[in-house]
Amino acid sequence: MVQGTFMMHDFHYLGRELYCESVRVKDIAERVGTPFYLYSYKTFTEHVAKLQRAFKSVRPIICFSMKANSNLAVLRSLVKKGAGLDIVSGGELFRARKAGCPSSRIVYAGVGKTDREIEDAIRARILLFNVESVQELDRIERAAKRLKRKVNVSLRVNPDVDPGTHAHIATGKAESKFGLDVDTAHLIFMRRGHYPSLSICGVHVHIGSQIVRGEPFVRAFRKVLILLAHLEKEGHRIKYLNLGGGLGIIYSDERPQTADEFARQILPLFKGKKYRFIFEPGRFIAGNSGVFVTRILYIKRTKAKNFAIVDGGMNDLIRPALYGSFHDIWPLSQNGKAKKLKYDVVGPVCESGDFLAKGRFIQELNANDLIAFASAGAYGFSMSSNYNARPRAAEVLVRGSRFAVVRDRESYQVLVRGERIPKWVG
Ligand code: LLP
Repeated sequence: MVQGTFMMHDFHYLGRELYCESVRVKDIAERVGTPFYLYSYKTFTEHVAKLQRAFKSVRPIICFSMKANSNLAVLRSLVKKGAGLDIVSGGELFRARKAGCPSSRIVYAGVGKTDREIEDAIRARILLFNVESVQELDRIERAAKRLKRKVNVSLRVNPDVDPGTHAHIATGKAESKFGLDVDTAHLIFMRRGHYPSLSICGVHVHIGSQIVRGEPFVRAFRKVLILLAHLEKEGHRIKYLNLGGGLGIIYSDERPQTADEFARQILPLFKGKKYRFIFEPGRFIAGNSGVFVTRILYIKRTKAKNFAIVDGGMNDLIRPALYGSFHDIWPLSQNGKAKKLKYDVVGPVCESGDFLAKGRFIQELNANDLIAFASAGAYGFSMSSNYNARPRAAEVLVRGSRFAVVRDRESYQVLVRGERIPKWVG
């Protein structure tokens, strides 16, 4: 495994010190304390621009999949650059609106939308529901009727394609809970008259995440194209084509397709088609835009291993524990020595699964040293929890030479907010 050779975009060393854009990360750590997530405005917004440029011939709506990172300042930065948002819950709708996202750029996926969530989204006049079952379609029809609105709907098609990624993040195989099989989607279009309050005007496909090759996308989109050809022959007008997210990024030695390469593979498939294209990438935009910064509490040498125990744990960054994911480790100050030692970097949580890195060769570490975990901008903070009654980490955004805490470290008070002890407990 190549380690420590890839530097993310606007995170770089100047001398031996790690910088995010023009700010020394150690200076932020001294001011904010650890652990914290650190985001680069420039990397975030440039990733959106890269996609916009690669696909400029079709002027797609880029709906950032906000489950990857839903911090309001991050969302606002992207929305200001013309991005929309892909949401999956009422909470995400709330955040999207708080961040100022125009509802005409919000699309809503997910297999378990509740009546309340559906009604809120209808009232907000979002662009499209991405519908994942016939039962959901019926619910949206009933809600639209109640609210006397005409609602735009797109059908999420499950093309039964293996994206070749971790099983937990594959979504487009027949056995997955997501989407409608092609035949059911076709049938719904044939029966669209049953849904007088809905305009069924789009097709959506998302096959999984961290896909580094174009080939599974091409296979999936070819299947969708066959469906679209049938639909158009039968006179159904399709306005929106949502090609999902899933673009992979570099964590260690991956060589994922670039936005340009992706566009070169995808655009010819849709030549001459007049759809309004939508993409909903999360990781591609957020992954390498953020790092997770921790301080070493103890170096514990056992007969078996060297453990570096840091002040951030699996509750903060669960990807290594959940998927065995690799996040590169960058010391905030390099010691300049060639000598490397092998470490397991673990958190304070009382679980053996609480590790952030295993068997890594890193410069010699000491208590109090600061280290950053790379590629943590997507599915980092957004998957964090309060397990072990640990307040969630702060989030910091850098732009040029400025930085701001965009989410406070949680206080203990926040941990017990909303809880009460009934009198009869004693
Ligand atoms: N659209 C839909 C309908 C999705 O379900 C997802 C991600 C995306 C777009 C964005 O996918 P992306 O471009 O980020 O690959 N927690 C996992 C990833 C879960 C992805 C869930 N759905 C991880 O940490 O790797």
